[in-house]
Amino acid sequence: ALVSMRQLLDHAAEFGYGVPAFNVNNLEQMRAIMEAADKTDSPVIVQASAGARKYAGAPFLRHLILAAVEEFPHIPVVMHQDHGTSPAVCQRSIQLGFSSVMMDGSLGEDGKTPTDYEYNVDVTRRTVEMAHACGVSVEGELGCLGSLETGEAGEEDGIGAAGKLTHDQMLTDPEEAADFVKKTKVDALAIAIGTSHGAYKFTRPPTGDILAIDQIKAIHQRIPDTHLVMHGSSSVPQEWLAIINEFGGEIPETYGVPVEEIVEGIKHGVRKVNIDTDLRLASTGAIRRFLAGNTAEFDPRKYLAESVTAMRDICIARYEAFGTAGNA
Ligand code: G3H
Ligand code: 13P
Ligand code: NA
Ligand code: ZN
Repeated sequence: ALVSMRQLLDHAAEFGYGVPAFNVNNLEQMRAIMEAADKTDSPVIVQASAGARKYAGAPFLRHLILAAVEEFPHIPVVMHQDHGTSPAVCQRSIQLGFSSVMMDGSLGEDGKTPTDYEYNVDVTRRTVEMAHACGVSVEGELGCLGSLETGEAGEEDGIGAAGKLTHDQMLTDPEEAADFVKKTKVDALAIAIGTSHGAYKFTRPPTGDILAIDQIKAIHQRIPDTHLVMHGSSSVPQEWLAIINEFGGEIPETYGVPVEEIVEGIKHGVRKVNIDTDLRLASTGAIRRFLAGNTAEFDPRKYLAESVTAMRDICIARYEAFGTAGNA
């Protein structure tokens, strides 16, 4: 059944688990996520980015998600709009039937320019008023995603600040977070702790100076009843990088957010964990490997089935590690 984000995250908080929120762009990702949820008895959050809407079209995405609900009626599913850039964008998603929206007022309508605090409060508060009247949940974001190592926001074509960010912009302040939640009444708050979108998060396995798990603890202490969201939470599995590079890829050395650090965050109020890149890497690795070993094969279903299996196994691992399993 389709459920609201609030309903699911309240349950996650009560029972102390986290829920991975996987980005979805196509049938294969949707199947991988649902098969993993079915196998592990996990509730599901699927989210559509602006890039996904551009690629597949909002009606296709919506019906993919509704098809998942129809085929797996026993699994609770949140249909979430990722990184909305204005109240108008969120309103359109609500009209389409999304049960949750993100109003990312940390960046302007271009999805690139960092905004000031008053702007963020204003657009988020307005979105919450509109969404709550329709029974839809809202995620806000305070602070900008960006690498504490380099000051870069991460991938250029996705959502991310343009140019360099300051250390302060990349770490959500606990006092400001408390004021933001009070003024906007968001259901969940995305925080900045040094992660960024995409595969290039860290040039070395992250330590506390570049991945600020302690900041989560400080924020959670100040606002214990707020559901926290970690963006840019792919772990960038080294084994998939190796497979991609073994079969013709050229991805430079790079590191993501270790699963055990996310699990530490979940102990301190993180309830939603955004993951996109890991499924992209697994999909690409599986397809490269299959095609390299089956050079006469040309039925897309053959290599796409490999992609589904690889993505499904990542989803299963995250559902188990985050304690989501068994809570559907
Ligand atoms: O927000 C970041 C997600 O990874 C979505 O990326 O805009 O390329 O679909 P995208
Ligand atoms: P990754 O790029 O780390 O998978 O993060 C995805 C995300 O935060 C989507 O909003
Ligand atoms: Na989101
Ligand atoms: Zn994000």
